[in-house]
Amino acid sequence: PSTARLYHERVMDHYSNPRNVGSLNKNDMDVGTGVVGAPACGDVMKLQIMVDDKGLISDVKFKTFGCGSAIASSSFMTERVRGLTLDEAGAIKNTDIARELSLPPVKLHCSMLAEDAIRSAIRNYKSKAQERGGSFTGSI
Ligand code: FES
Ligand code: FES
Repeated sequence: PSTARLYHERVMDHYSNPRNVGSLNKNDMDVGTGVVGAPACGDVMKLQIMVDDKGLISDVKFKTFGCGSAIASSSFMTERVRGLTLDEAGAIKNTDIARELSLPPVKLHCSMLAEDAIRSAIRNYKSKAQERGGSFTGSI
């Protein structure tokens, strides 16, 4: 299939059948929550991770109020980070997502939301872990 067709299929698949939509309990100490907005368009993405005692992302949920590419990017991100360490998840670039979904340049900021959201969720989880004085696996 042509690149255009692949773009259509991958984005449409994640858009019409988004994975891991929902919420985790943001008060749970094992949960990190990231809420970010795109200044360009006002779209908003919430992404939450649950971290197990080995420091691996064991669950992940999202809710996105935004365009199809933002929904597809967050759906893709939830599948991508499950089972990863926080360092691995935090290293994922929006350009990786854009490439996987073949997003056009005008939609790059939509995938940026997903990168911002996972980083924000990781920061939130780490600050909670520090608050309770606990240690967590992996480097900061
Ligand atoms: Fe319309 Fe993002 S600008 S949904
Ligand atoms: Fe703004 Fe997609 S158009 S997030």
